[in-house]
Amino acid sequence: MKRGVVLVTGGAGFIGSHTVDRLLEKGYRVRVLDNLHPRVHPRGKPLWLSPEAEFLHGDVTRRPDWERALEGVEAVVHLAAYQDYMPDFSTFFHVNTEGTALLYEVAVERRLDIRKVVVASSQAVYGEGCHRCEEHGVVYPEMRPLAQLQRGDWAVRCPHCGRPVAWEPTDESVVHPQNAYAMSKYAQEMIALNLGKRYGIPTTALRYSIVQGPRQSFANAYSGVCRIFCTSLYLGRPLMVYEDGQQVRDYVNIRDAVEATLLALEDPRTDNQVFNVGGGRPYTVLEFAHTVLRVAGKEGRIEVPGIFRFGDTRHICSDITRLRSLGWSPRYTPEDSVREYLAWLSSQECRADLLDSAQAHMQAVGVLRRVEVRA
Ligand SMILES: NC(=O)c1ccc[n+]([C@@H]2O[C@H](COP(=O)([O-])OP(=O)(O)OC[C@H]3O[C@@H](n4cnc5c(N)ncnc54)[C@H](O)[C@@H]3O)[C@@H](O)[C@H]2O)c1
Repeated sequence: MKRGVVLVTGGAGFIGSHTVDRLLEKGYRVRVLDNLHPRVHPRGKPLWLSPEAEFLHGDVTRRPDWERALEGVEAVVHLAAYQDYMPDFSTFFHVNTEGTALLYEVAVERRLDIRKVVVASSQAVYGEGCHRCEEHGVVYPEMRPLAQLQRGDWAVRCPHCGRPVAWEPTDESVVHPQNAYAMSKYAQEMIALNLGKRYGIPTTALRYSIVQGPRQSFANAYSGVCRIFCTSLYLGRPLMVYEDGQQVRDYVNIRDAVEATLLALEDPRTDNQVFNVGGGRPYTVLEFAHTVLRVAGKEGRIEVPGIFRFGDTRHICSDITRLRSLGWSPRYTPEDSVREYLAWLSSQECRADLLDSAQAHMQAVGVLRRVEVRA
């Protein structure tokens, strides 16, 4: 028997299209709302989008598009978003925050019978995340000042005594969003969880760590270490590492991220809560660069030229205990993700100018900067 209609916003994108495939596989009927943003889809509707899904070309910032998309829908996976590090601050709030408010506005106004909403938040809401100071215990440090980074001093410091601190896994309890994307995502969570609770629309927010796998658009070369390193290698370029490469991250494979999303959609124990969806193991960026070379079996060069992204987090690694307690755990490794991404990349036509123009743009607007004096 066919299950109800699930609306996937951003369903043409990376996480969205894999979610669509899995939902179809499980017998759901699927509708996609996506504006085919040119930075993600420079060639329009991607071929990987299943023809079995109903496709609506529309925008989550437009009420009529939500009205059309929500008609007869049983559940929503809200993934459409504006992302990355650029300083067009208002766009983040317009798309991510207002767009989410519109979803609930239309659902409440039309008394729609929506069983569940899953919204995509991000690990970015933690900013520098949880750290430990020898003197002050657990602390949540501020973003590192520009002058410090320009000296090539990458340390995260205790907000009380200024001494360098050690990172710890970050659980869901304390958020500290520092950039426009992170703030818009946290505002989105608050809107979704609070309005959902108030109006009886069970909602779950998922704070994905860095998700990796095929279909992550290489046209958008502003962030995403897997796509940038793999694309660089594919084009015969060096792998350029920001800061000193000792930044810690956790990486989650797309298949694990999709299973977490389906769990949130189907399991009422997740209602009205927020969960980290991470890889469960810390990697330094340099370690990840070596993983890319090893998996590719290529010589490739790794460069650490003293460049940094202003506003970037130094170390962040999510604690995934809460989601593990519901039976989910990551099954795939970053090696799997790199292997799958490289295989997919070899079937694509990827261009050097996309990498170059993203770099040039980030430099022009002051996101990408160079160390001025070594510490
Ligand atoms: N990929 C990651 O590592 C990661 C990490 C944390 C959180 N997230 C969140 O997961 C979600 C999906 O990310 P992704 O990596 O699949 O991104 P993506 O860029 O591959 O996909 C996003 C999709 O949304 C569409 N879109 C953008 N603006 C839209 C709008 N105004 N109206 C309708 N559609 C619009 C795009 O065309 C695209 O198809 C986002 O909400 C993102 O913030 C992703």
